[in-house]
Amino acid sequence: AAPSPIGIDPLQSVAKELKFLTGNIQQLLGSGHPMLDTVAKYYTQSEGKYVRPMLVLLMSQATALTLKHDRSTPQALDVDSSMSPSTVLADSNPSPLTSPPVVEDTADTSVLPSQRRLAEITELIHTASLLHDDVIDNSISRRSAPSANIQFGNKMAVLAGDFMLGRASVALARLRDPEVTELLATVIANLIEGEFMQLKNTASDEKHPTYSQETMEYYLQKTYLKSASLISKSTRAAAILGNCSPDVVEAAYSYGKNLGLAFQLVDDMLDYTVSGAELGKPAGADLELGLATAPLLFAWKDNKELGTLVGRRFAEQGDAHDLVIQSNGIEQTRAMAEDYINKAREAIAFFPESQAKAGLLDMCTKVLQRRK
Ligand code: FPP
Ligand code: MG
Ligand code: MG
Repeated sequence: AAPSPIGIDPLQSVAKELKFLTGNIQQLLGSGHPMLDTVAKYYTQSEGKYVRPMLVLLMSQATALTLKHDRSTPQALDVDSSMSPSTVLADSNPSPLTSPPVVEDTADTSVLPSQRRLAEITELIHTASLLHDDVIDNSISRRSAPSANIQFGNKMAVLAGDFMLGRASVALARLRDPEVTELLATVIANLIEGEFMQLKNTASDEKHPTYSQETMEYYLQKTYLKSASLISKSTRAAAILGNCSPDVVEAAYSYGKNLGLAFQLVDDMLDYTVSGAELGKPAGADLELGLATAPLLFAWKDNKELGTLVGRRFAEQGDAHDLVIQSNGIEQTRAMAEDYINKAREAIAFFPESQAKAGLLDMCTKVLQRRK
């Protein structure tokens, strides 16, 4: 990892925390039924990236150093206007970017037990969505191993995902925080809304669709729901559990939203640029599924002929793939991801300097550089 301004690997501050994470997740997933136990734990035993728990832990540490807030009057929940495209596209971080007060670096800033549990819950929800996703996408591999649907069949994969959501809900209820419960429950609904938007996108029955501004807005809204919602609402929840002031809660949300959008844009780019062997899951899967993601949408914007291929849902995938590669769709996708990453960085600029803040900024760099 790149050295941080304070000379230590910024992700080291959560390394210790992460060691407990997998064990705790296994505990949350224990079932008396041996087969259910095996299927539910299957993806948690492979090498995940743990992006979401890492972000929750880093946000918990980074915001522990900010001023605290009296929560006797509940904060307004304004996050579910997330269905409107303008909410996703507008950057609404209201906090003035004053220069950060330098606080003594506290490498072992403790994470609250509730925040640690939140980190585990985010990974449970994410993994449950992957179990269902691989069934929906008819995928054959995940994390360099056969996907759960291949290993155990669709029925068990779907049921194990449901079981995980159940256990995540129990853990969430035990946090005894209605605002955080509402946020994470909304995430689950958003994941399904995002998948439905994607289905509708593929099921377009127009033979010659035309590219318009709404095409990209629809894609970004879908991207928010399927990826950025979980990341942003969990970084927000981490700040809420830490009793942070409203501007810090808003900054945590804005950081997660922008980083989450960038994360999925990069994911959609890697589907075109990296081999399946390197990804640990099938490459080129989106065109095969008839999905128009950012690289193709940018190519289509510049080459209206692509509309015919979109109308046929890429029956000739080779043609669509070549046209995307020949266009600057990949570069424009990367540039869009960079814009969101810059917004994520700006959102937390006013946080006091700390190893954890450096870790959050380091995650921004890693999202842009990652190849899997
Ligand atoms: C991966 O996307 C999938 C998601 C980010 C979310 C999938 C959500 C569902 C299937 C809805 C059900 C949700 C729950 C909580 C059970 P991808 O297919 O683009 O990426 P991939 O290349 O990793 O498969
Ligand atoms: Mg999918
Ligand atoms: Mg998939």
